[in-house]
Amino acid sequence: MLKIHIKNNHAGAHTFPSTVESEPVFTITHERYLQALQSFSDIAEKLEVFIDWDAEHWCESMADTEVLLTWDLPIENLAEIAPKLKWIHCIGAGIEHLCPMDWLPTGVTLTNNKGAHTDKAGEFALMAVLMLHNKMPRILSNQRETNWSSLFSTPIAGKTVGLIGVGSIGGGAARQLSKLPVQLIGVSRHGRAHPEVDEMVAMDQLDAVLPRMDYVFVSLPETPETRGLFNRQRLLSMKPGAGIINVGRGATMDYAALEELLKLGHLSGAVLDVFDEEPLAADSTLWAAPNLVITPHVSADDGDHYVPITLAMFFENMRRYLAGKNLHNVVQPELGY
Ligand code: OXD
Repeated sequence: MLKIHIKNNHAGAHTFPSTVESEPVFTITHERYLQALQSFSDIAEKLEVFIDWDAEHWCESMADTEVLLTWDLPIENLAEIAPKLKWIHCIGAGIEHLCPMDWLPTGVTLTNNKGAHTDKAGEFALMAVLMLHNKMPRILSNQRETNWSSLFSTPIAGKTVGLIGVGSIGGGAARQLSKLPVQLIGVSRHGRAHPEVDEMVAMDQLDAVLPRMDYVFVSLPETPETRGLFNRQRLLSMKPGAGIINVGRGATMDYAALEELLKLGHLSGAVLDVFDEEPLAADSTLWAAPNLVITPHVSADDGDHYVPITLAMFFENMRRYLAGKNLHNVVQPELGY
C-alpha cells in the first residue's frame, strides 16, 4: 500500500486559508477523498490515506508516508522525519510560501495545482475587464458618496487588453476575453505563441507593449523576477486612463504607487484580488482608494469544486506515479513555480 498523508490547514494569521469561512473550500475530508477516488477505481486499492489537520500527527504519520498532499508543511528535518517521502503535491498554484526550496530533500518531487483555477479565473478576468471598461470602480466609489454622475461608456470594440502571465490563469483569461472584439497582447517568460492571443511577446518586451494596453490583467506568480515588476515607473508608463487587475500575487505590484496614480487619475480603475498581507489590514489606505475594487482573494478558486478539481488532478497524477511515468505540474525549484 502507498501511504498518503493529507495535511489540511486551519485558518490563522499569515497562513492559508486566511479566514475561517474559506476553510471548507480547501478542506479535504474523508468523504470528499472517497468521492473523488470513485473515478479512479483502478488505483483505489493501492492507496491508504491519513487525513490530518495542521501538524497534529505530523511526525508519527510522516514516518511511513510516501506522498504528501497539502498547502504548507513544517520543512525542518523533513528527510529524517519522512524517510519514505517521494512526492509532495501543493494544493495551491503559487508556491512562494515554500521558497527557497533548499529544504526539499533530494529525490522528492514537488507538484502544484496549476490548472485548477483556469475556468473560474477566466470568468473573473472577463468580468473585471468589463467592469473597468464600464467604469464600475468609479461608479462604486460614487455610490459610497451618494453621488449620481452619468458616467457613460462605449462598447469595448477596438480596445487592447494585456495579459501579463499567460499560464493556466492567463490562458483562461485569454479564452474568455477572446470572445470580445478586443486585441489581446500576451506577455510571458518565453513569449511563445498562444492560440487565443493575438500577439505574444517575451517578458523583456513588457515595456514596449505596456503603453499600448487599455486594460492589463496580471496573473504572475511571485518569484525573484516578478517581485516589484509593476513598480511606480512601470505603472506610470501605462496609457493614461488605463485600468489594471491583479489576481497573481500582491508582491508583483507597488500598491502605494498604484493608489497614488488612481488618485491622480493617471489610471482610471483597478481590481485587486491579492495582497501581501491577507486579509488586508483594516487600517490599509487601499480600502478607501478611489476607483479601486478590492476582492478578497476569490478570483480563481471554485468555491464549490476546488477540492474535487484538486483531487481529480492529484489522482490523475497518482496514476502516472504508480505507472512510473513523469508527473504533470512539476515545480522547478530554481524558477519558483
Ligand atoms: C493559489 C491561489 O492557488 O492563489 O495559489 O489561489
